[in-house]
Amino acid sequence: MIVCICHGINDKAIHQAVADGACTMSDLACQTGVGTCCGKCTDCAKSVLDDALGATFAQAA
Ligand code: FES
Repeated sequence: MIVCICHGINDKAIHQAVADGACTMSDLACQTGVGTCCGKCTDCAKSVLDDALGATFAQAA
């Protein structure tokens, strides 16, 4: 699923960014550029980020 059209970022890229250490929207923006152009993807990106963080913590537990 494409999340950020401006930067061509999909949900898998966000999950990968979380695996690489991103845990905030700021981290995600630095790593992928998501939300840094038009900003319309911010809500969706935050939702995917939260899902990815939940999956990461579930794996660690
Ligand atoms: S769609 Fe992500 S910044 Fe525009």
